[in-house]
Amino acid sequence: MADQKRNLRSRAWFDNPENPDMTALYIERYLNYGLSLEELQSDRPIIGIAQSGSDLVPCNRHHLVLAERVRDGIREAGGIPIEFPTHPLQETGKRPTAGLDRNLAYLSLVEVLFGYPLDGVVLTIGCDKTTPAALMAAATVNIPAIALSVGPMLNGWHKGERTGSGTIVWKAREMLAAGEIDYKGFIELVASSAPSTGFCNTMGTATTMNSLTEALGMSLPGSAAIPAPYRDRQQCAWETGRRIVEMVRADRKPSDILTRSAFLNAIKVNSAIGGSTNAPIHLNAIARHIGVELTLADWEETGADVPLIVNLQPAGTYLGEDYYRAGGVPAVMGMLLEAGQIDGSAITCNGRTVADNVGGKATEDADVIRPLADPLKHAAGLSVFSGNLFGGAVMKLSVISDEFRDRYLRNPNDPDAFEGKVVVFDGPEDYHRRIDDAALGIDENTVLIMRGAGPVGYPGGAEVVNMRPPTALIRAGVHALPCIGDGRQSGTSGSPSILNAAPEAAVGGGLAVARTGDRIRIDLNTRRVDLLVSDEEMANRQAELAAVEQTLAPPSQTPWQEIQRGIVGQFDTGAVLEPAVKYQRIAQR
Ligand code: FES
Ligand code: MG
Repeated sequence: MADQKRNLRSRAWFDNPENPDMTALYIERYLNYGLSLEELQSDRPIIGIAQSGSDLVPCNRHHLVLAERVRDGIREAGGIPIEFPTHPLQETGKRPTAGLDRNLAYLSLVEVLFGYPLDGVVLTIGCDKTTPAALMAAATVNIPAIALSVGPMLNGWHKGERTGSGTIVWKAREMLAAGEIDYKGFIELVASSAPSTGFCNTMGTATTMNSLTEALGMSLPGSAAIPAPYRDRQQCAWETGRRIVEMVRADRKPSDILTRSAFLNAIKVNSAIGGSTNAPIHLNAIARHIGVELTLADWEETGADVPLIVNLQPAGTYLGEDYYRAGGVPAVMGMLLEAGQIDGSAITCNGRTVADNVGGKATEDADVIRPLADPLKHAAGLSVFSGNLFGGAVMKLSVISDEFRDRYLRNPNDPDAFEGKVVVFDGPEDYHRRIDDAALGIDENTVLIMRGAGPVGYPGGAEVVNMRPPTALIRAGVHALPCIGDGRQSGTSGSPSILNAAPEAAVGGGLAVARTGDRIRIDLNTRRVDLLVSDEEMANRQAELAAVEQTLAPPSQTPWQEIQRGIVGQFDTGAVLEPAVKYQRIAQR
């Protein structure tokens, strides 16, 4: 017991006989609200609960309730819970974009985990970027950490059909544009998709990142898919609290769990679930902060051939409750393990291996989670594109519609890929202003380009690459055009977009010199995108651009926007704060 006590990181604050002055100062303030000397100077680990829920973050708000059960679990296992708030990070409410705040939430949590007397931490995750921000911080500091998902909302329903949060909005705005519903009907339809507390019930970025956290081994097996209001969610919170205390006692740190094997497993799972195109940005960021080599190329090499088996919107039919009942992540991983697709020896937060956790698990509803042999789509992972417009960009082939496949992929071996003319938009405001301008001549063979939407151009990177066609085209039955851009796309969108292009236009990437009227060639087979403009002309345009003074548009509105623009990297390497990467495993014992 004495050794155990000496090993606790928090004892440098609370029980340091070599520095009684500081010990007294530290400890009197934590006694202040009723913790006792007996507790703070015992062998009992101090466990932080990083609270991401608040009135500003409705997706994670249920964590305010769950935290009570986390505390019960921590107490039961002999730890002492200390709850603290994290920077609010809500996807749909934060202007100009929540992407701006992921790195700010990361930075802030690193400071808290490093600078306060915490032996371990429960990371409360849920809404899109709350998850990567928390895991990135845990990676940098490297104290024992376990994630607790808040869980998805209940299924949304409207007139007898499932309505998925974040996904129905794309359909609803087409219906509004086509005059099928009015403004009131539009709001009503969209709101039907969010019937309870929890995160988006679709396979958007939230379900993706919560599933991948479990696949990485950073949350308890079976925990990601439990709907927020279910009793199982409360029980999982209690179990998570108990588990983190054991993790501190075993000194099991993120670096023990977040290995390259774990990341490759997560990439496979991402393909099988039809995960968001934001996943490579976030996982590459986590990998960089823990010091694991992971590149965009790994996504294509490891994940491209894996079939899509989870039948959730937007690629499929069902929603979060169905996902849970069909077996959730363990069913997916169990079948991937059985097929030899993932590494069963990867260690997870519960001290057991992936094989221990998911061996023998399989789908419990073959319509919702299909067997690998009968998938929704074959080879459904992310594909990585390059060409003369950018060095790397991704496309989620699994959301390409049949209509699009028929148009452009009639013969997969056809060397003549799709060609069309481009119409270029400089940021989302420009797009909204001009998309319905008939003079642009947008037809069904047009490729829409969105630039100025990357991590520097539109600070944090906007989810705006999925652009709806002009109203006239929608009325004529064309519901999607190929889109290319240096911004992101919502994980809940099903558009055939090539996105996250790096380097972005704002830092001199090739997209900066594309002009409306240029022709472009997209080859889905060789994964190349090229503007059909000679190298010489490309170079001339680059030189012209370099000669004029560039100002970033839109201008920064806040100090953080300006600070981040100066130090943020590109999407292909995680869009992390580059100066932060050298700080690894910084917790001092
Ligand atoms: Fe928060 Fe979808 S907007 S989870
Ligand atoms: Mg999103």
